[in-house]
Amino acid sequence: MYEYQKSGRYFAQVADDIKDIAEAELLELGAEETSHSYRGIYFNAGPESLYRINLHSRLINRVLAPLKTFDCHSDNYLYQVGQQIHWEDFLNQEQTLAVFASVTQSNINHSKFAALRLKDAIVDYFRERDGKRPSIDTRTPDLWLNVYIEKNVATISVDTSGGSLHRRGYRMETTQAPMSETLAASIIRYAEWDGQTPLYDPFCGSGTLLCEAYLAATKTPSAHRRSKFGFERLPDFDAVLWAKIKKAAFNKIQPVSKNLIQGSDIDSKVVATAQKNSAVIDPTTQIKITQKDIFEIERIEDTTIVCNPPYGIRMQQKKDLGDFYKNLGDFLKQRCTNSTAFIYFGDRKYIKHIGLKSSNKWILSNGELDGRLVKYVMY
Ligand SMILES: C[S@@+](CC[C@H](N)C(=O)[O-])C[C@H]1O[C@@H](n2cnc3c(N)ncnc32)[C@H](O)[C@@H]1O
Repeated sequence: MYEYQKSGRYFAQVADDIKDIAEAELLELGAEETSHSYRGIYFNAGPESLYRINLHSRLINRVLAPLKTFDCHSDNYLYQVGQQIHWEDFLNQEQTLAVFASVTQSNINHSKFAALRLKDAIVDYFRERDGKRPSIDTRTPDLWLNVYIEKNVATISVDTSGGSLHRRGYRMETTQAPMSETLAASIIRYAEWDGQTPLYDPFCGSGTLLCEAYLAATKTPSAHRRSKFGFERLPDFDAVLWAKIKKAAFNKIQPVSKNLIQGSDIDSKVVATAQKNSAVIDPTTQIKITQKDIFEIERIEDTTIVCNPPYGIRMQQKKDLGDFYKNLGDFLKQRCTNSTAFIYFGDRKYIKHIGLKSSNKWILSNGELDGRLVKYVMY
């Protein structure tokens, strides 16, 4: 029996800033006995909840199922243990695999080297057994494996998601400073948007916030476009149960009214990208995206406003955006009566320029950016 089978315990990788809402999401999807750890959350689940979490979670990156945890002081020992696992339980020689690793405070001090040693162990295991070996594919392998070594304790896990869940499959094209899908989903979640109040993003860029809002409002599983999941490679994978969960989830998808979700951007090229991306999940074009300078919009009233205005760091603009943010604050005050705005600041020095009293604030990093999400209620 493998470790995850004995304990029923898994590890969800998630950004540290959003662990509170990710934990709530995990519990809603059937996880139990959650506990926070560095960059993730441990939880207990049966197969049904495991499949459901992978299909629906909007906030976590992947779920790892541990196969074996052991003291590991050398790469040779990692290789030896790697050869003791019955890899034919997970894949055959015709299939492909990839190994990802991260190491910290350990004798093996290079992640890539740890991954390479485990990969060698698996390949040699098959070669010695059958004279034939599976191939490596780091983009779309059949089996995604993870090795994590901390203070010389190693855990070998199967990535049950089969690659990061932030890849929803709607990003056909990208723009200069797109927001990650999980960050956008966390903004929709912090906004506690009810899926009924009109939602508008006046700086929509590639349309990530609009797409995540649409998935939430329609109750579309975030991984609905994923053709294979890592848990399908587990020896106890239950195909009948998985088909049942998928069917139940797809039956719950509901339409949204036209114009419920709208966005605009000053840049027409970016608007075309957002339209292309959103058409992937919204073929009947319920999301309305137009080209507009925010300051030409007459009013956005009785609406949930979510946005991520330009912030200059990634875009390498030397220009100071203080006046821009002051004008944005005036716009909100004067033209957005009865709306609530959730503004994501990639550079928090601009918060003070808005000139509005915030009613809540969250620390939310975006890659290496130490960003903030700020809530403003306009009366
Ligand atoms: C940080 S990006 C938004 C990224 C977006 N959240 C995404 O996921 O792709 C900021 C966007 O604001 C737009 N923008 C800049 N000035 C604007 C203005 N005055 N009115 C409307 N959009 C503007 C830019 O074209 C850019 O696409």
